[in-house]
Amino acid sequence: MSTTEAQPAPVLAAGPLSGRRAVVTGGAGGIGAACARALAGRGAHVVVADRDEAGAGDLAADLGGDAWAVDLLDTRALETLTLEADILVNNAGIQTVSPLEEFDPEDFRRIQRLMVEAPFLLIRAALPGMYARGFGRIINVSSVHGLRASPFKAAYVTAKHGLEGLSKVTALEGGARGVTSNCVNPGYVRTPLVEHQLADQARVHGISEEEVLGQIMLTESAIKRLVEPEEVASLVAWLAGDDAGMVTGSSYVMDGGWSAR
Ligand SMILES: NC(=O)c1ccc[n+]([C@@H]2O[C@H](COP(=O)([O-])OP(=O)(O)OC[C@H]3O[C@@H](n4cnc5c(N)ncnc54)[C@H](O)[C@@H]3O)[C@@H](O)[C@H]2O)c1
Repeated sequence: MSTTEAQPAPVLAAGPLSGRRAVVTGGAGGIGAACARALAGRGAHVVVADRDEAGAGDLAADLGGDAWAVDLLDTRALETLTLEADILVNNAGIQTVSPLEEFDPEDFRRIQRLMVEAPFLLIRAALPGMYARGFGRIINVSSVHGLRASPFKAAYVTAKHGLEGLSKVTALEGGARGVTSNCVNPGYVRTPLVEHQLADQARVHGISEEEVLGQIMLTESAIKRLVEPEEVASLVAWLAGDDAGMVTGSSYVMDGGWSAR
């Protein structure tokens, strides 16, 4: 794995994740960056993996971790990877919104490659080390759309449902060897990905971005606000710790009640 060394490493406070090495994909922005900060704040050494090399480098320097500049769509390169990680957060994701009959097949394939195939290959690359150490935490950033569907999101909903299956198989195989695997399932989180979706949905439905938020994104939600990235990160950090040792094969919804109906 090619990593660039971070700037002078600050002394990390001792914390519940001290001595653990965490790899966070899509760690340069949005939910991934919040996860990287939360894990580092609890003492983990964090590798920020992202195609945004500058963003990953800046955050890694801030956290005293490492940056891994990687395009996870290049899945061939992941087939021979050895990944040293005690904690793997499969978070990198993208979204394309389109009616099924117009859905660009290449967009569909790209989303499966980044959000199902890459997590599979990273888990595959990390498990031998985790098994050797008798400890591992795989945390897959899924979505409410891993458990429910919405129109116009065929590729994303398909990929997240696939990730849920991958996570459960990982849990079953890893359970006896100290490795847990879980999904976190946020509703709409305040990140650039959602800001782009607001614009896309406005175009598809022919309404304003404000109307998309009120009439489409949060209509089903009991709590009428976006989830904050730090709220998702706190759940991820809990799953990474020793307290969650009996939690595996689960999916943790954080959606303000959206899926309670
Ligand atoms: N934002 C939401 O409302 C929301 C809700 C539920 C689930 N999620 C999931 O959370 C995850 C993160 O979403 P986000 O909103 O923080 O997105 P984001 O767009 O803010 O950040 C995604 C990060 O992934 C990186 N990335 C994208 N493609 C990559 C590639 N090919 N290789 C390496 N890195 C790549 C980007 O550079 C970016 O740093 C995704 O899996 C998404 O599906 C998001």
